[in-house]
Amino acid sequence: MNIASSLPSGGDIHLLHRLRALQDRHQHIPPQTIAPLASELGLPVSQVEAVIDFYSFFHRSPRGHFDILFSNCTSCGDLVLMQQLCDLLGVVPGVTRADGLVSVDQTSCVGMCDQGAAALINGRTLTCLSAQQLPALAALIHAGTPLDEWPAEWFAVQDNIRQAALLLNDTLSSGDGLRAAVQAGAEQLLAELRQSSLRGRGGAGFNTSLKWQLCRAAPADTRYVVCNADEGEPGTFKDRVLLTRYAQQVFEGMALCAYAIGAQHGFLYLRGEYRYLLPQLEATLAEMRTANLLGENILQQPGFNFDISIVLGAGAYICGEESALLESLEQKRGVPRVRPPFPVTHGYLGQPTVVDNVETLLAATHIALHGGQWFRDHGTQDSSGTKILSVSGDCMAPGIYEFPFGISLQTLLAACGGQDAQAVQVGGPSGTLVSRAEFGRKLAFEDLATGGSIMIYGAQRDLLAVVRNFTHFFAHESCGFCTPCRVGTPLLRQYLDKIASGHGTAYDREEMARLGKLVKRRSHCGLGQTAANPLLDLLEKFPQVYAERLLHQDYEPFFDLDAALATTRTLTHRDDAEAHLS
Ligand SMILES: Cc1cc2nc3c(=O)[nH]c(=O)nc-3n(C[C@H](O)[C@H](O)[C@H](O)COP(=O)(O)O)c2cc1C
Ligand code: SF4
Repeated sequence: MNIASSLPSGGDIHLLHRLRALQDRHQHIPPQTIAPLASELGLPVSQVEAVIDFYSFFHRSPRGHFDILFSNCTSCGDLVLMQQLCDLLGVVPGVTRADGLVSVDQTSCVGMCDQGAAALINGRTLTCLSAQQLPALAALIHAGTPLDEWPAEWFAVQDNIRQAALLLNDTLSSGDGLRAAVQAGAEQLLAELRQSSLRGRGGAGFNTSLKWQLCRAAPADTRYVVCNADEGEPGTFKDRVLLTRYAQQVFEGMALCAYAIGAQHGFLYLRGEYRYLLPQLEATLAEMRTANLLGENILQQPGFNFDISIVLGAGAYICGEESALLESLEQKRGVPRVRPPFPVTHGYLGQPTVVDNVETLLAATHIALHGGQWFRDHGTQDSSGTKILSVSGDCMAPGIYEFPFGISLQTLLAACGGQDAQAVQVGGPSGTLVSRAEFGRKLAFEDLATGGSIMIYGAQRDLLAVVRNFTHFFAHESCGFCTPCRVGTPLLRQYLDKIASGHGTAYDREEMARLGKLVKRRSHCGLGQTAANPLLDLLEKFPQVYAERLLHQDYEPFFDLDAALATTRTLTHRDDAEAHLS
């Protein structure tokens, strides 16, 4: 299947989709296409240029006919494999081969942490890559074999649901939640949601009924519902599985929200890495239209008109932040807005908008059918219901686990065979690094809050390498809007690189911690506010990991001053002792 032809109907009018089509066709965005595209879409050329430069899947110069991006995540990445493939193909990472046949590079986590090593090739996902496979893969590239003729199993994505509970066990029939809601009315739907105490599953845990209520109350003629399926936090892949198995219930959740707030249009913002899901998601939407679960006068309710379009991201983690996501939907760079005002009053195109995570909307559909108390009966005082967790790393059974909120980390580790871990990163790089001594802590908003990412690190893992990986991730994904994050995250990366290379001193460690706290405090959005969490947590919980690497001297500069003067010495024909720094 040619995936470029599977873009959603009507999707060709969104700038991101048009740029993706150009990128697919020409392996880059040809300069002469930019002005005509801008004029056709009625956008300033400067806006189109800015968007091209912002998203990592668009390029100004040609990539290879086969463009391969290896994940660099600690769970689904393997850069040793990347280098091996580069050697087989005779390419340098990041540089397109001279004949234009192939390019190989790295990218942030691709959401396949339960089935790595993973990579994208021309936007399609390769899973379970191994060293044994690489010669055959290189041969197919050298022969110019189209991807459709490659072994299908190389592209297979498993769901790996290991533990199902409230939501994953319950098979709803098409339209069940929506029918129950329209029978009871919008007020009752909101009352059930309030009773459930459902909190958003995207990380921040905002009360969902309150969010819907605020949006409903905002004065406007037009309101929107957005499902946030950007899922870019390394180690998270539950939304991928929910959209594979339960897309209809997620879309129903969006329709329920529309019913409650009075919206007529919704968007699913799907991360570009999950492009392979598009055809089946479009098919689900088509079935729902046929069943009158979307469209006009839904379920014969006069005036209940609602439909959903899918917009595909293009490789920018920051677009998961809800206001950056709205900017991206508006065909702009994904730069987080100044808040307040919040999306519930000033969202998409300035209109009241609910942005909710995939799992939140799935839970809403179940609550509409079973009632708020059914949900409230599970979990803890401040965290009702269950949490769907993406478990990856050093354990026997990585995959999807659904548990009631409040279980201990220890219980989860026993379930997935990760008891021997020395540490677990809960909530992805922006979350909390938990040491063995803390495995009794509870997964819940009142203790260890998580959007769902659980990354397990066994005794053999170098935790400094893990934290360095996370810090590189944040520096790479910073959108550059505010100075503390734009400047601070690369500086933090530089400190960690220096310490990891054995050149760090106690002074560097102290400066890094001081800077980390400043970046946390002063950054504009959640990315910068959490970017230093991993390195600060490591410092607090595993101080020996730093101490073992430090030089026993007060200070060493970031660069070798004496070596930097070598050219001057050559030019002046001097190499005596005084021409050197002691
Ligand atoms: C850098 C960053 C990335 C985020 N990525 C996601 C994401 O991929 N999915 C998501 O649902 N929320 C993400 N969020 C949180 C959203 O801003 C927002 O809180 C969430 O979509 C609200 O939905 P909920 O109330 O259902 O959780 C992210 C936040 C930040 C700061
Ligand atoms: S904190 Fe970072 S990602 Fe957020 S707005 Fe500032 S530069 Fe952008």
